[in-house]
Amino acid sequence: VTTMTTTEKGARTGKGRPLSPSDFAAIVGRLNRQSVEKRFEAYRDIDWDAPEMSLEHNSHLLELPEDDLLGRTEWYRSQPPEVRAAIGLERLATAAKTGLEFENVLMRGLLLFAYHRGNGDPSFRYIMHEISEECQHSMMFQELVDRSGLPIKGLPLPIKLLSHLVPLNALIFPELFFVFVLGGEDPIDYVQRRALRRQHNHPLIERIMRIHTMEEARHISFARHYLKHRVPHLPRWRRLRLAIITPFLLSAMAQLMLSPPRALIKRYGIPRNVVRQAYKSPEARAYVAESVSKIRALFEELGLITPFTRLLWRAAGLYQ
Ligand SMILES: [Fe+2]
Ligand SMILES: [Fe+2]
Repeated sequence: VTTMTTTEKGARTGKGRPLSPSDFAAIVGRLNRQSVEKRFEAYRDIDWDAPEMSLEHNSHLLELPEDDLLGRTEWYRSQPPEVRAAIGLERLATAAKTGLEFENVLMRGLLLFAYHRGNGDPSFRYIMHEISEECQHSMMFQELVDRSGLPIKGLPLPIKLLSHLVPLNALIFPELFFVFVLGGEDPIDYVQRRALRRQHNHPLIERIMRIHTMEEARHISFARHYLKHRVPHLPRWRRLRLAIITPFLLSAMAQLMLSPPRALIKRYGIPRNVVRQAYKSPEARAYVAESVSKIRALFEELGLITPFTRLLWRAAGLYQ
């Protein structure tokens, strides 16, 4: 999608060294230009009312694929087609709801972050682009939830309450905040890219995922480069805090986003052993670890993975 500039290539090869302010500014400038060239709007660029976009139409395309953790179980495959499609739709709608709740927390943090950018800082403009894109994503996801006609609840209340603390980090510990950003965006991106490689997606879902992955690529790029720019300058104890918190934060977030919705298990009476077989298997653990592997590689590059913190990544189930 993107062509790398020479500064960026140079910055990439300089392993472990901080990204200089001018290299960082050049990358943010490029992201700013791309944010104008390739952008989408929920109610302009998706033809919600086209017949082929209707969720009732071609609903067999909503079934979970055979390489899906639940989709490949004997139990799922033996369900009638309407049940398979209904389960597929409920899982999509739940993921969309979790996604927009995450984006809500994210946007609040980004606003706080932008509030403290000085004049002439290219990050200010970039952050505003990112917030506008997340606004469009949230409208797109909520429209999907509403069209599913399902009573999707979203995150449990204690987690919703806890999430109010996250945006504050954009002020007091922005590096941790951008790790949180990656923790939400990278696993979803991993899941969506995997889905887009398949042949038969429902046209509406395909459109939503294409728009989302295209724009998320920029968000992920900004967060990664921000960390490369800032983390090497952090005092040692802050680096240590970041290195210790991250594996557990990522594991909790990936778990929240990739594990099966409890409401769905209840509604369809999915047997306990099927849930265990699908989501507690070594394959499931490998899947979660794989979904955050790019963040782990970034942490390696930043020198934040030591023999001690590797143990933590292992304890969090993210190091196979
Ligand atoms: Fe998004
Ligand atoms: Fe994003």
